[in-house]
This record gives sequence, structure tokens and C-alpha cells, in this order.
Amino acid sequence: MSAESPQALGRFITLEGGEGAGKSTQQRRLAAWLRETGLEVIETREPGGSPGAEEIRALLVTGATGRWDAVTETLLHFAARRDHLAKIIWPALQRGAWIVCDRFADSTMAYQGYGQELGRETVAALYDLAVGDFRPDLTLVLDLPVAEGLARANARNGAKAGGEDRYEKMDLGFHERLRQGFHDIVAREPGRCLLIDAAGDEEAVAAKVQAAVRERLGVAG
Ligand code: TMP
Repeated sequence: MSAESPQALGRFITLEGGEGAGKSTQQRRLAAWLRETGLEVIETREPGGSPGAEEIRALLVTGATGRWDAVTETLLHFAARRDHLAKIIWPALQRGAWIVCDRFADSTMAYQGYGQELGRETVAALYDLAVGDFRPDLTLVLDLPVAEGLARANARNGAKAGGEDRYEKMDLGFHERLRQGFHDIVAREPGRCLLIDAAGDEEAVAAKVQAAVRERLGVAG
């Protein structure tokens, strides 16, 4: 079976970044703003977003840091992604909905490719197999120094469901590598990606996110 995605009428926006960068908050704000412009907007996330992918998510985000080797872990992320695409994302885009997704494949490149040191080529090959030519229309990478992000993530952890802290428990070198990975991704694909300084307050970051969506995707509002 081909990995090709169907023709999309809607738009696919992804929010990326390390731990504690504020993606979920910005996702809510961006989706609310887009809805005010009259669009149908779906908020979803990875790993997860479809019933099958949410089951796989539980395998990935809980338990010991060394639970999977890098290849197994990457295959699990792509298995979850393929289900999410086939069941939720592609059908929604086909009917003209806009999607704001909290993480997508750039997280696999940053976390597994750079953080777990699996390498760009392996992650790219698995992307071709599982996803094909489909790409987000716009990817906003919320960037924060590692120490600041981890401090924010730890502060909010009481509220996090089900001990979903497997990646937060990885060592500092892992988090520094994945941040560099996100910087490299943006540098390699400046037409699709934009780095956004997430150090300011929520309001200021939301304004930058809206400006980027207006400018890059021609949303009036
Ligand atoms: P979340 O906390 O943003 O919901 O994401 C769950 C964790 O999964 C987060 O620490 C980043 C990690 N992750 C990967 O390592 N690779 C991936 O492809 C994705 C989507 C997430």
C-alpha cells in the first residue's frame, strides 16, 4: 500500500519544542483564534491523537528511561503517527479542517534522531516509509533554554496524568542535543519552520505565533 496522503483542503500546523516550552497553552490559544476567523479547527497531539496511537503513547511516555532501544522507540512513534494520520489527520484535512497539532515528526527527528543519537538518515528513511511526501504546512518551534524548560515542566508535573515523565527524566545531554536538533531542523527547512523565542510571557508568545500564521498562511484576523 502506498504511503501517499490524500489531497488536502485544510491546513496542518504543528507546534514543536523541548520540555516545558508551553506548546499546549499556545495550541489552545492558536486554535481559539483560528476558530474566531470562522475556520473548523481540530486540536490534536502526538504521540497519540487517535485511539490506537493513544495506546502506543502509554508505552512511550511512561516507565524507565532505558525501556526501549532507539530503533524500537522510533518505530513505535511512527506506528502511532501512521494511525493518527490515517484515522484523524488526513480525513480532517480532506474535508477542509485546519489542524493544530502538539508535536509531530520533527519531535522524532529531534528526540530520537538527535537526542537518542539515532541519526538523521534513519529517521528520514522511516518518515518516508510511514508518512511519504506529506509535510506540515507550517511548523513553529517554541525555543527555550533547557534548564528553564525542565524547571517549568517539573513545576507542572503534579498536574500531569499517569506519570508521563519518561522523557523529562532523560539526562541533560539528551535535552541539549534535542534542542540543537530543533535548531538544525529550522535551519534546514526555513520555508516550513520558524523558531519562536518562548521565554516571554504567554501573551507575548501567542502574539508571535499569530503573526507567523498570518504571514505564512495568509490568515486574516
Ligand atoms: P508531550 O509531553 O509533549 O505530550 O510529549 C510526550 C513526550 O514524547 C515528550 O517528552 C516528547 C516525546 N516525543 C518523542 O520523543 N518523539 C516523538 O516523535 C514525539 C511525538 C514525542
